[in-house]
Amino acid sequence: METLRFISSPFFIQLTVLFFVLNPANAQLKVGFYSKTCPQAEAIVKDVIDQVMTVAPSLAGPLLRMHFHDCFVRGCEGSILLNSPTKRAEKDSPPNLSLRGYQVIDRVKSALEAKCPGVVSCADIVAIVARDVTVASQGPHWDVETGRRDGRVSSFNEALINLLPPFANISTLIAGFQAKGLNVKDLVVLSGGHTIGTSHCSSFTPRIYNFSGKGDTDPTLDSEYVPNLKSKCTATDQTTLVEMDPGSFKTFDSSYFTLVKKRRGLFQSDAALLDNSETKAYVELQVDTSGSTFFKDFGVSMVKMGRIGVLTGSAGEIRKVCSMVN
Ligand code: HEM
Ligand SMILES: *[C@@H]1O[C@H](CO)[C@@H](O)[C@H](O)[C@H]1NC(C)=O
Ligand SMILES: *[C@@H]1O[C@H](CO)[C@@H](O)[C@H](O)[C@H]1NC(C)=O
Ligand SMILES: *[C@@H]1O[C@H](CO)[C@@H](O)[C@H](O)[C@H]1NC(C)=O
Repeated sequence: METLRFISSPFFIQLTVLFFVLNPANAQLKVGFYSKTCPQAEAIVKDVIDQVMTVAPSLAGPLLRMHFHDCFVRGCEGSILLNSPTKRAEKDSPPNLSLRGYQVIDRVKSALEAKCPGVVSCADIVAIVARDVTVASQGPHWDVETGRRDGRVSSFNEALINLLPPFANISTLIAGFQAKGLNVKDLVVLSGGHTIGTSHCSSFTPRIYNFSGKGDTDPTLDSEYVPNLKSKCTATDQTTLVEMDPGSFKTFDSSYFTLVKKRRGLFQSDAALLDNSETKAYVELQVDTSGSTFFKDFGVSMVKMGRIGVLTGSAGEIRKVCSMVN
């Protein structure tokens, strides 16, 4: 009776509200998290990225992809950046295939540390950089939520388990996204990230040389496109890079969807978007309307992706150097 009176008392309700507000685990990301602690943070990041993009525009792809890989393993907490002396970190896992641009993140971090030491997390840097390279590639701008803190663990095996392979079918893709709180629409929208960047031949050569172990070709691939891909990649090529959206691989546009519709998506995971009614309808809508909703949708889904498993409040830490825990 006494207990009941207590929990319905205004005092208890206030206490509960206070608990939720102050509980670090309940802290949330927000746009402009650094507006007081480091007001120039986003401008500093943009400056560095704009400089990098003028000399090395091919880093836009890997830097966009980095945020995706970070978020899908342990959440967006910068674990993708950690070096492991024993080579057992996420970075060392095969799905990292060619992730590049770590030195750009280090450059941004140094610029930020010079102005606001110990304030901006590496996980937030990765998220802001993903937006800035998209904009630099003539893609959409979205407001990046910040306030992430950095994790202290990076795992080779978790990267293997959580990162989807290029040969994933539509059910595996949907389940993989769902496991991270992302839906079917997010899957098709974010796959549009493949409008920029390049791929190693090895990510798709099985499709063109030995699809089912009989020296055959993936039937879902446009047969007229196969000779073109074969001319770029031998069956065992491990080094050549191929434009994923040929002709406009440096421009963030909606032509990825036109490519997928024509059955010229590079990976089985791209082709698979035609195997589900919702993803297929989205692909066709972007083709018919010249991608009129893609830019806005991409920003919305990137913000959602950026919330996966984040550390906030007093969890984790703000790393001093992005490749090392403090
Ligand atoms: C849906 C599941 C996905 C799969 C299976 C997948 C797979 C891949 C693979 C295999 C590569 C080529 C790596 C290489 O061989 O060098 C690649 C490249 C790339 N991916 Fe994805 N990806 C997926 C989703 C995403 C998402 C959500 C984004 C970002 C929003 C993204 C952005 C990129 C970019 C920009 C590249 C080009 C990287 C470069 O230029 O080096 N991907 N992806
Ligand atoms: C990615 O993984 C491969 C091994 O699978 C490793 O040799 C390479 O150094 C890794 N890349 C980076 C940037 O750590
Ligand atoms: C998709 O791939 C998974 C894993 O390889 C497999 O278990 C499943 O049967 C496949 N589903 C379809 C519809 O092909
Ligand atoms: C194709 O794959 C099969 C089964 O894995 C293998 O026995 C065969 O040698 C491969 N053929 C070529 C040309 O690589």
